[in-house]
Amino acid sequence: MSKKLVTPTIFVVFGITGDLSRGKLVPALFDLYLKNRLPGHFQVVGFSRRDLSETEFRTYISEILEYKIGTANKTAMLEFVKHFSYIKGLFEDQGAYLRLEQHLRDLDETIFHVCTNKLFYLSTPPSLYETILGNISESGLTVPCSDDTGWTRVLVEKPFGTDIENARRLDVLLGKLFKEVQVFRIDHYLAKETLQNILAFRFSNAIFEPLWNNEYIEKVEINILERDTVENRGSFYDGMGALKDVGQNHLLQMLSLVAMERPEMVFPETVRAARTEVLKHLIPISESDALTATVRGQYEGYQEALRLPGSQTETFFSLFAYVNSKRWKGVPFMLTSGKGLNEDRVDIRIYFKDNDPASFLPKQYLTQERNQLTFTIKPEEKISILFWVKIPGFETKIEPKRLTFTYHDAGEMVVIPDAYERVLYDCFVGDHTLFASTQEIEAQWNFIEGILRAWKNTPLHIYKKGSKPEDIAQMAQVASAAR
Ligand code: BG6
Repeated sequence: MSKKLVTPTIFVVFGITGDLSRGKLVPALFDLYLKNRLPGHFQVVGFSRRDLSETEFRTYISEILEYKIGTANKTAMLEFVKHFSYIKGLFEDQGAYLRLEQHLRDLDETIFHVCTNKLFYLSTPPSLYETILGNISESGLTVPCSDDTGWTRVLVEKPFGTDIENARRLDVLLGKLFKEVQVFRIDHYLAKETLQNILAFRFSNAIFEPLWNNEYIEKVEINILERDTVENRGSFYDGMGALKDVGQNHLLQMLSLVAMERPEMVFPETVRAARTEVLKHLIPISESDALTATVRGQYEGYQEALRLPGSQTETFFSLFAYVNSKRWKGVPFMLTSGKGLNEDRVDIRIYFKDNDPASFLPKQYLTQERNQLTFTIKPEEKISILFWVKIPGFETKIEPKRLTFTYHDAGEMVVIPDAYERVLYDCFVGDHTLFASTQEIEAQWNFIEGILRAWKNTPLHIYKKGSKPEDIAQMAQVASAAR
C-alpha cells in the first residue's frame, strides 16, 4: 500500500535543464503524478543558468514530456506543469540562492500556508556539489522553517564525489548541514526492479541459495553495454570516464547484490550493511595485476568528436574482481561496461560448475558453460535459466534450453516503474534501503582508486564503434603479448 504524503513538499532541482532531468527525472515525476504517488500538494522549483521566463520554463517541461511520452495525457500534463516554477542563476552566485530562499518562503506563505517539506536534488556534475551545498547552507536554505512540520532532505547523484578525498570532504560538508537520515545518495541501479528481485529470488527460493557459493558457481559476469556514444555529454563525461561513471557505482552495486549475505531482518540498515560487507572485501587490484586483470579502451573518433585531442578517458573497461570471503573465494566477477559497442545489454550472468563426474554432457560440450542463471535488465527485464535436456529420439543426446520469466509472460498487468520513480518516491517517504550509504561509497572508491592509480601505467586501446566487448579484450591481450 502506498504511504500517504500529506505535508506539502517543494522539490528543488539544481541543474534542471541538464541531460538527467530531461531523460529521467521529469518523466519520472510525471509518472508518479499520474499514479498519485507525489505529495498531495507539491511544487517543483527548477534552478539553472539558462535564461528562461516561468512560461518558457513550463513550455520546456511540457516539451520534454511530449518528446518522451507523446501527448496522450495532455490534460494531466497541462495541470502538472502548473506545479513548476523557475529560478535562473549560476551555481556559484550567492545572490541566486538568496532569490531561491525568498521564492521558497513566498510559496510557504502565500500558496501552502504552512512550513513545507523541502527536498534539494543535485542533478549536476559531482565537481559542483561542494559549491552548491556551500551556497545552500550560506543562504539559510537548510534551516528548517518550523520545529514541528516540514523536513529538509537532500538527494545527491552518483558518482558521489570525484575521488575518495572529495567524497570524504562532501560527507563532512553534508554532515554539517544535514543529519545522516536527511541524506539520500542515489544509485538508481539499486532501484531497478530486476536488481531488487535478486534478493527476493535468492532468499525466497530454497533451490538456489544452497548453490550460491564457490563450490557450485564458476564465475559471474556483470555487464552494462551501450551502443550510445557520449558526444552529447561532452566535457562532463571526459572528466570522469566509464569506470567512475558506472563502475564505481552501478556495477559494484550489482556485484554486492549477487554476493551479499542474507541479512537477518530486512531493514534499510541491515541491507545496506550486508552490501557494504561485500564491497569492503573486494580484493584490491595491484598495479601489476591491472595489466592482466583489466582492459581500458576508447572508441575511435571520441577525441575528434569531443575536440579533446590526446584525451586518455576510457569509454570501455573490463576487469576481474574477487571477493575475499569463504563463500566467494576464487570466483571471478567479471565487470564490463562500455559506450559505442555493438549492443545495448545490461545483465548479470551466473555460470554454474559441472560438479557431477558422471555428467551426461557429451565431450563436445565440456568447454561450454553448464547451467547459467541470467538476470537481464536490458533490453528487457527478465530472469532466465539455461539448462540441459534430452533431445527427443532414439539416442541419448542433450541440448541446452532456457526457462525464462518476464512479468509480461506471467500474464500480469504489470507496468514496471522506472528506477527514478522508485528513487524519488522512496526519498519522499524517507526509506533509505535503495540508497548507498556512506560506508558503501567509501568502500567503492577504495577499490576503484586502486585501479585508477594502476591505470596511469596501462595502455588505452582504441576500438572501432560497434565493437563487441570480447573483441576489445582480445585486441588488448594481443597488444600486451606483443609488448
Ligand atoms: C548513468 C550513467 O548513471 O547510467 C550513464 O551516467 C549510463 O552513462 C546510465 O548510460 C545507464 O542507466 P540506464 O538506467 O539507462 O540503464
